[in-house]
Amino acid sequence: MSLAPSRTIFRPVQSPSRRDPGRTHTRGFLVTFEGGEGSGKSTQIERLADFLRSEGHEVVTAREPGTTQVGEAVRELLLRTAREDLTPESELALFLAARAELVAEVVRPALEAGRVVLLDRYGDSSVAYQGYGRGLEPDRVKALNAFFTRGLTPDLTVLIDVPVEASAERSRNRPADRIERAGRSFHGKVRDGYRDMALNEPERFVVLDGTEPIDSVQSAIRGAVLEALAERIPTSRTEST
Ligand code: TYD
Repeated sequence: MSLAPSRTIFRPVQSPSRRDPGRTHTRGFLVTFEGGEGSGKSTQIERLADFLRSEGHEVVTAREPGTTQVGEAVRELLLRTAREDLTPESELALFLAARAELVAEVVRPALEAGRVVLLDRYGDSSVAYQGYGRGLEPDRVKALNAFFTRGLTPDLTVLIDVPVEASAERSRNRPADRIERAGRSFHGKVRDGYRDMALNEPERFVVLDGTEPIDSVQSAIRGAVLEALAERIPTSRTEST
C-alpha cells in the first residue's frame, strides 16, 4: 500500500498555515505525540521536555489516558480490567471522558499560563484506534473530539511512525494490555489511519521514522518544535500585551 507520507520523513513540514492552524488558545503551545505501540513516544517526550526547559520554557507533560484522577481510573478500566468485547462506542466514550478531564484540569490552564504542553497521545489516538482500527467513522470521532475538548487543537502533532512488526518486537518484553492484544490487522489499520491523517493535515503533522536511532528522532523532533515555536512567538507576544 502506498500510504507513505510524501514529504515528511525527517523533514518538518513547512507551511504558512502552521502559524494559525485553527488555534483555540491564546498563549502557550500544545504539542501532541502519536504513534503505534512501542514507538518510543515517552522517551522522546521526556528528552524533549528536558531540552525545552534548558532553553527556558516552562513545560508540562501528561499522558492519555491518565494524569487526572478520572483519567487514571479510565486507564485502569480500559487497559487492564475491561472485558475483551467492550463495544467500540463504549471504548471511545471512556477515552473521550478522560480527554475532557485532562483538557479542563491540566492542558487549558497550562496553555493559558503560557506553558508548552507535551501530550503523550490526544484526539488523533481515538481517530486512529477507535476510528480506523475499530471501524467507527473517523469523521464522527473527530467531531466528538472537538466537542469533548471544546475545540482544543494541537499546534503541532509529532507522529512517530513504526511498522507493525517492529512495534510488536519492541513491545514483546512487557505484558500486553487489552488494546495491544488486538492483533496485527487491527494495528495495521491504526498505522495506516495515522498516515492518512498526516497526509490530510500536513500543516499540523510532522511524521518521523521511528525505526531510526533515538538520537536522530530526538533531533528531528527538536528541530520541528523549535521551528514551530519560533513561528508562534511573535503572535503570542502581541496577544499577551
Ligand atoms: P499506553 O500504555 O499509554 O501505550 P502507549 O505507550 O502505546 O501510548 O496505552 C494506551 C493505549 O490506549 C494504546 O494502546 C492506545 C490506546 N488508546 C486508544 O485506543 N484510544 C485513545 O483515544 C487513546 C488516548 C489511547
